[in-house]
Amino acid sequence: EKMQGNIAIDGPAGAGKSTVARLLAARLGYLYIDTGAMYRALTWKALGLGIDLEDSRRLVELAEGTSIRLEDRGEGGIAVYCDGEEVTRAIRRSEVSRYVSIVAGVPGVRQYLVKLQRKMAASNRVVMDGRDIGTLVLPGAPYKFFLTASLAERARRRYQELLASGQQADLETIMEEIRQRDARDSQREVAPLKPAPDAIIIDTSQMSVEDVVARIMSLIAVAGQQG
Ligand code: CDP
Ligand code: CDP
Repeated sequence: EKMQGNIAIDGPAGAGKSTVARLLAARLGYLYIDTGAMYRALTWKALGLGIDLEDSRRLVELAEGTSIRLEDRGEGGIAVYCDGEEVTRAIRRSEVSRYVSIVAGVPGVRQYLVKLQRKMAASNRVVMDGRDIGTLVLPGAPYKFFLTASLAERARRRYQELLASGQQADLETIMEEIRQRDARDSQREVAPLKPAPDAIIIDTSQMSVEDVVARIMSLIAVAGQQG
């Protein structure tokens, strides 16, 4: 294997970042780091404590006093621990999805988590996904991808996931939730969602997961030969 260096994957909700990142990491023997899970874990804790989400100072204190740990289980995905408690499933609940972009909009919260994320990437053998990985967390990463898909397709994917796991879901509600979260993530002052200038943009609307993984693997191989 010639390749060396971190892989950054960014994009809006439901673009396929975490699914693709997990598979890439398993194939390359890299560590997968889901930064969204860190913002979600903090949001889960804040909601549980009844913290006022408008109180930025309190949220920064909360972040600094919280231990968030990600355990890579390979193809089995990532297990997430918040202060030692497993929250892998709890952080996917719709209440967390609804509020996470508010917590993620607090500059001090981001500063703290970004510092952790950079430490986690020190091996130079990670696939990290999020919103600001290529632009801010790992601007020097040699491989950067920005995955997108139409809003309708991304909502449909989330809807399918919920149905498949036996939960009830409403497509219109999911689409509206994703639309609002994307808007907040793209319009915020600090580290807004946008492709890094050197990211390769992949529209996955008409692609399968396997198509996307194969495309990225071949782009990495080409870059490795050129570099
Ligand atoms: O999986 P999904 O696309 O629903 O979202 P996620 O990756 O779990 O991220 C949840 C939220 O965390 C995003 O909507 C952002 O508000 C925030 N986030 C962020 O601001 N920066 C990151 N690097 C990762 C997530
Ligand atoms: O992390 P992000 O929010 O970007 O997306 P995800 O959590 O990986 O969810 C994407 C969902 O769409 C998963 O159920 C995938 O199986 C499915 N999907 C995909 O990720 N990529 C495609 N090209 C097609 C479907």
